[in-house]
Amino acid sequence: MYQDGRGAVRGVSLAVGKGEFLALIGTSGAGKTTLLKLINRLVEPTRGTVRVDGADIAATDPVRLRRRIGYVFQGIGLFPHLTVAENIAVTLRLLGWPKPDIVARVSEMLDLVRLPRELAARLPATLSGGQAQRVGVARALAAKPSIMLMDEPFGAVDPLTRDALARDYRNLHDALGLTTVLVTHDVLEAVLLADRIAVMEAGEIVETGATHALLTGAKTEAARALMDMPRRQSERVNRLSAGAAVR
Ligand SMILES: Nc1ncnc2c1ncn2[C@@H]1O[C@H](COP(=O)(O)OP(=O)(O)OP(=O)(O)O)[C@@H](O)[C@H]1O
Ligand SMILES: [Mg+2]
Repeated sequence: MYQDGRGAVRGVSLAVGKGEFLALIGTSGAGKTTLLKLINRLVEPTRGTVRVDGADIAATDPVRLRRRIGYVFQGIGLFPHLTVAENIAVTLRLLGWPKPDIVARVSEMLDLVRLPRELAARLPATLSGGQAQRVGVARALAAKPSIMLMDEPFGAVDPLTRDALARDYRNLHDALGLTTVLVTHDVLEAVLLADRIAVMEAGEIVETGATHALLTGAKTEAARALMDMPRRQSERVNRLSAGAAVR
């Protein structure tokens, strides 16, 4: 609940299955980030319950909870004064992993997100946007979570890099058997990556459905407007390619 007394998220009921890849889309300010933060206790609900693996998280120690949940922050959010290796190791240190295990895990994570190991000693400011985003994913995955919450993790990079990052992550999701909730403004990205899509508007989830079902038969105006976007764009591209004048 924020100052104006209205909840940023209201009356939301959402279940995410184990192993599922859910994309959360909706206009700016709809409450997507708030909803993600409710799942790992960065924000506490004024009403209602969040369950992870069947247990009410209000009764779960936040550190233990976050050990099971990787979080990729909107806008990357790397610690600027820590090296890449130290950033990736943040949670492992909190958990008291022995130093040699941390060193080994950092190398393993760099390999996993396809970054050269030489980057380990660098500071975030010396990375490209795409490299920094890969570090954010590596940091979130370091403590072997089973759940990943990702808030616009592939934003602010060129479309080719974004596409490569997104595909790489979907492969990791499958290979590691993760459960993922991905917030994205890019409807096409949501459509291409997710098994299921939830559409948020003004603090509420207005529609949820399998990606294919939402694409072909969204019931609400809000969902239809968003889900029609990729199709409308590709139709315009197709007409352009065929030589027609479209704008
Ligand atoms: N710490 C806060 N204090 C007061 N209001 C907040 C706070 N965080 C978010 N809000 C408000 O709650 C609403 C939902 O914000 P939230 O960040 O969850 O939206 P979002 O869907 O993630 O938006 P975006 O797509 O722009 O990231 C907005 O009206 C926002 O202004
Ligand atoms: Mg947000």
